[in-house]
Amino acid sequence: MGNEFDRYRHEHDKGVRTKISWLLKLPKFWNSPLSKEVIRIVDPQKGENVLDIGAGMGPASVEAASRGAHVVAIDPSRFMRTVLGLRRQFQKNPGLITVEAGVAERIPLPEGSTDVVCAVNAIHHWTDLEGSIEEIARVIAPRGRVLLVDEDFTDPKHPKHETHHDHEDEMTKVDVEVIKSLFEGWGFEAKGEKVSLSGVPVKLVEANSQ
Ligand SMILES: C[S@@+](CC[C@H](N)C(=O)[O-])C[C@H]1O[C@@H](n2cnc3c(N)ncnc32)[C@H](O)[C@@H]1O
Repeated sequence: MGNEFDRYRHEHDKGVRTKISWLLKLPKFWNSPLSKEVIRIVDPQKGENVLDIGAGMGPASVEAASRGAHVVAIDPSRFMRTVLGLRRQFQKNPGLITVEAGVAERIPLPEGSTDVVCAVNAIHHWTDLEGSIEEIARVIAPRGRVLLVDEDFTDPKHPKHETHHDHEDEMTKVDVEVIKSLFEGWGFEAKGEKVSLSGVPVKLVEANSQ
């Protein structure tokens, strides 16, 4: 049975070969130092509600849950949701992680329900950037924190620059100034910058709701 988010599924969710190639990349997607760093920065507290958009295999979700936060991990990919669904069973407190079908453009959460929103290496997949920021603005609680980070393969200092520099060509261009302005339009205090996080160049947008 399909669902309304299936149209956002990508090639890696469809063929057997591509699924195998994702499994081969498992070490990177399982324990990503970048996700750990993102969670360290947004610093979710015990009992807070965290939304991980494009959670994939859940490196940020499990890190946030290990601090006692309640995490909703959304992803349009059934494959990713299955992997994370299995992974959560092996966490100290599996009940802290809920895995749901969802996309940035349509977040399956009520208004004002989320203290922290994070997305790691997912923005370039969002087909409707304006709609996605509007959705984040809808679900965030007052004084909520948002941290969106995408690796910057266009930076020659990125170790994968040679092979990945055209990564965004057929996807959404991640322009931190544009995303920052979109958040400001919803009344957030926001900054967008290109920095190095856990040793790789990234495009980063940090936004705080009033
Ligand atoms: C490169 S992976 C990153 C996964 C994880 N955040 C990590 O750092 O390992 C990007 C994820 O975004 C998901 N995705 C694709 N389109 C999306 C959308 N419109 N909204 C949210 N997530 C999306 C993909 O299914 C994939 O799992």
